[in-house]
Amino acid sequence: MGKKISDRVTWVGKTDWELTHFHGDELSTFDGSSYNSYLVRGDAKTVLIDTVWLPYDKEFVQRLKDEIDLKEISAIIMNHNEIDHSGALPELLREIPGVPIYCTKKGEAIMRGHYHQDWNYVNVKTGDKLDIGGTILTFIEAPMLHWPDTMFTYMDSESILFSNDAFGQHFASESLYADESDLCSVMYEAEKYYTNIINPYSPMVTRKIKEILGMSLDVKMIAPSHGVIWRHDPMMIVKKYLEWADAYQENRITIVYDTMWNSTRKMAEAIADGISEADPSVAVRIMNASKDDKNDILTEVFRSKAVLFGCPTINYGLSFAIGGLLEMARGLRFKNKKAAAFGSYGWSGDSVKLLSEHLAQAGFKVVNEGIKEIWIPDEGALARCRNFGRDFVAQIASE
Ligand code: FEO
Repeated sequence: MGKKISDRVTWVGKTDWELTHFHGDELSTFDGSSYNSYLVRGDAKTVLIDTVWLPYDKEFVQRLKDEIDLKEISAIIMNHNEIDHSGALPELLREIPGVPIYCTKKGEAIMRGHYHQDWNYVNVKTGDKLDIGGTILTFIEAPMLHWPDTMFTYMDSESILFSNDAFGQHFASESLYADESDLCSVMYEAEKYYTNIINPYSPMVTRKIKEILGMSLDVKMIAPSHGVIWRHDPMMIVKKYLEWADAYQENRITIVYDTMWNSTRKMAEAIADGISEADPSVAVRIMNASKDDKNDILTEVFRSKAVLFGCPTINYGLSFAIGGLLEMARGLRFKNKKAAAFGSYGWSGDSVKLLSEHLAQAGFKVVNEGIKEIWIPDEGALARCRNFGRDFVAQIASE
């Protein structure tokens, strides 16, 4: 059965308690997720906003039948057409062929590319409206939040913004609402989601939010397509997005390392000691690229004003985990973050130079040449690492 979130709106989505990875293996989702779909009942028409991920298509359609005679659905609004939202469309449209699908022009192209069907597409643009009787739905294009086809739908009678992926979280919860969930976990998942999915498009986020704020819409609820609904102070997450989109950083330094025989780990810990000695106010976190989750590491990088990446030289290059993280960081386009490299070595010692090059290519401002120490660091080497940490604090302050 669906769950009513207001007089006219019923949640008919799917909570996915066991999801651990999303986008293949690119994104960890340790708190599961949900695929939110909403049934909106006007006085004259009933419409469905978004569907669910493909593996749940039959279950979704069956449960929708428990909620409504499918023939009463007079339109489907597809705010975004990645498969986690459009996946149940083929199953649903086998039951109600010909129902108009409101979407952006790019949304139509994506649906055609995904499902190869000549469905009844109705292209909409920002400001276009659908009157369903007693309620007007207004469409707002939001390209690259996070796909080119993305749009939001605003419902005037109940002041709900259906924002699709924006403001979402991969978070399965007993409650549909943030204010009835563990807010620390919700906010962490929202930030992890922003870091790993939305951050590359931060300039568009800022522009779009300012545009929507300029519309002076009354927003009492933000209903995203993943995770919980923002009901109490919904503008809080909008303000957070504006902060996150503005080259976000805290007084925090993250040290990410990989190690073969613990020498680079010892260097990491000594550098951390030096940083804390030089500036006790800065939060320092050390993460092992091979043991900690890659998306959690990148979320810590997102929060940091500076990062240190450490890796021994392995053959002629870097470790698998560090190389992968740096490539992911390059794609995420972090802004305004300083960096340096470190690593132990036995003979060639190429890793520190390589790390510095990769950090620069990923958009970090590399503030020094890095530090390398041969074999297992002794007391003298560890003292040099502590000094390096102290100097790093001064360098990131002056750059
Ligand atoms: Fe939740 Fe971009 O799909």
